[in-house]
Amino acid sequence: MTSSHERIHLAIVTGASSGIGKATAERLAADGFHVLAGVRKQSDARTLAAPGIEPIILDVTDADHIRALVNRVTHDPDGRTLRVLVNNAGVAVNAPIEVLSLEDWRFQFDVSLFGQVALIRALLPVLLSTRGRIVNVTSVGGRVAMANFGAYSAVKFAMEALSDSLRREMEPFGVSVVKITPGAVSTNLTESGLAAASRIADTMTADQRLRYDELGRAFTAQAEGFARDGVTPERAAGVISKAVAARRPKTRYTIGRDGAMFTFMPRIVSDRMLDSMLRSQNKSLAKSKA
Ligand SMILES: NC(=O)c1ccc[n+]([C@@H]2O[C@H](COP(=O)([O-])OP(=O)(O)OC[C@H]3O[C@@H](n4cnc5c(N)ncnc54)[C@H](OP(=O)(O)O)[C@@H]3O)[C@@H](O)[C@H]2O)c1
Repeated sequence: MTSSHERIHLAIVTGASSGIGKATAERLAADGFHVLAGVRKQSDARTLAAPGIEPIILDVTDADHIRALVNRVTHDPDGRTLRVLVNNAGVAVNAPIEVLSLEDWRFQFDVSLFGQVALIRALLPVLLSTRGRIVNVTSVGGRVAMANFGAYSAVKFAMEALSDSLRREMEPFGVSVVKITPGAVSTNLTESGLAAASRIADTMTADQRLRYDELGRAFTAQAEGFARDGVTPERAAGVISKAVAARRPKTRYTIGRDGAMFTFMPRIVSDRMLDSMLRSQNKSLAKSKA
């Protein structure tokens, strides 16, 4: 166990109230970091506080929270330096594109992309000075865009592009940028994603209901399968810990067998073949919910 004065590096983990973020904050604290763990609620801050974990109120869409975080990092009472930023916070808004409002598109992008961009921009001067690391949690949704995942996949494809550009911009200056690509992980994302999907489904017209009934059932079955069969958040955190610790990190670390498979598949399977594989997968998922 590392005592607080022995911890010489800071790590930031966003979205640390639950799931992958919480497990990562705990894992990095066990690895010896002093973790600034971003949460949105005081109650989560109280639950999370532990040796090596300092909860910080951080809504990634709130400029004041980001300013306060930068101030906290640059005035560390023990002179510790920022080694890593783990951009993990995210939401899932799933619905067919015909149905999804622009407001929901903006919400998905505000939290899961622009929030991360704002944090990266605010913390880059510090990370450049420490030759630190940026770890972006993307998704298999950033490799394959399934039906019903338009906005979520759009944001994760954008995270891919952001990560690639940033890695190439930062490479000469010693800041490494790493993508983490999870497949299914058992977290609250299933429940909150299903709740958002059901809220949006309630806005469908009768025609839209007919059009998307099968897709809706397939999505529910798939989300339940993610929660049931996904890897644990602790296992995901173990992969992130490896990406943080590696002397020369890989550009991408996948999590779970599906994480590896969906990362690789678009390189070897044609669009039409992928369409037909995903269509038959959805048919059998929907049947299981009939
Ligand atoms: N679970 C999976 O199967 C899976 C697969 C691929 C990728 N991922 C990615 O993994 C990341 C973590 O998700 P998870 O599965 O661990 O889900 P989760 O348990 O729902 O965690 C999401 C976290 O994001 C936080 N968050 C939401 N809106 C925020 C905001 N505006 N500002 C700051 N934090 C915010 C949540 O905080 P509150 O509790 O306050 O809402 C929560 O801590 C996400 O980027 C997700 O896309 C997950």
